[in-house]
Amino acid sequence: QATVPEQPFVSNPLDAKIEKKVSIVGCGQVGLATAYSILNKEICDNISLVDMNGSRLEGEVKDLQSATAFTKKCVVEGSTTYDVTEGSDLVIVTAGAKQKVGESRLDLLEKNTFMMRDVLGKILEYSPETPICIVSNPCDIMSAIANKIASDLPCGRIFGSGTVLDSGRFRQLIASSLNLDVRSVSGFIIGEHGDSSVPVWSTVFCGGVKLINGDAPGDVENAIHEEVVHAAGDVIARKGYTNWAVGNACAEIADVVLNDLRLIMPVSTCVRGYAGVEEDVFLSVPCVVGATGVKRVIDLDMTSEEIMKFRKSADTVWKAQSGVWN
Ligand code: LAC
Repeated sequence: QATVPEQPFVSNPLDAKIEKKVSIVGCGQVGLATAYSILNKEICDNISLVDMNGSRLEGEVKDLQSATAFTKKCVVEGSTTYDVTEGSDLVIVTAGAKQKVGESRLDLLEKNTFMMRDVLGKILEYSPETPICIVSNPCDIMSAIANKIASDLPCGRIFGSGTVLDSGRFRQLIASSLNLDVRSVSGFIIGEHGDSSVPVWSTVFCGGVKLINGDAPGDVENAIHEEVVHAAGDVIARKGYTNWAVGNACAEIADVVLNDLRLIMPVSTCVRGYAGVEEDVFLSVPCVVGATGVKRVIDLDMTSEEIMKFRKSADTVWKAQSGVWN
């Protein structure tokens, strides 16, 4: 019987640097969709999952491990403790309570603030320098709190997934209304990942052509933004949670961070000083994102109406945030 001769093990000093690892903290529907999407994007060599429910996690990890039979080589690990996250190139936090039918993202504030304080300390113990993407809702305030806890980290290292998802929903709706591929549509929704988000119509281009004449939206445009604002609620009313869209959005963020792509994406970052905001509020604005997180923020040429809406979004978030800030 033919046997494959054993290869001498040659340790490659570059191996450690070549390997890319993503950890996901919180393996409910959002964490799992994120893991599945990252796995299928084939952008890393290790996905490590942390969740409190060990038995369920073990089942999910085994299932994902079998799924790697059909992807590029990738190790999937899981644990109820954070040592499994050591050496990550990106940590994604999806842990916490999720919206119930009729609840807004801001309604989750108290429960998830407590969780964030606990979880972040543990992540930093094993990944003190690693970029951290906060997905747990309310995403902007959770990102602000995480930054406050880790205030000695370089600015931009911790950011929220923010309106990457809202902007994706926005572009998808515009593209499908025009029967175009979504990659032909660019444009940003900024501000809160939530009800006070702001569509910046002056940034919306289809194949290089500005979508609307002038910068004031009409009824059709307003209806598209309304649909984006209600998208999560509509899905939750029917299936109880959202997961696929946010999972794909997180996988895109992971690709950008792991490969230092410097894609401009609307992630949630500190906007003190942006469009006249005076508080330490985290909101989404277009940011250059790479291996260390947010590298810089892009100043948008907004109309006075858009600036007003952005400041209103900052006020809404700051009002909620000040209740848990100290
Ligand atoms: C959503 C949740 C993740 O918008 O906030 O789908």
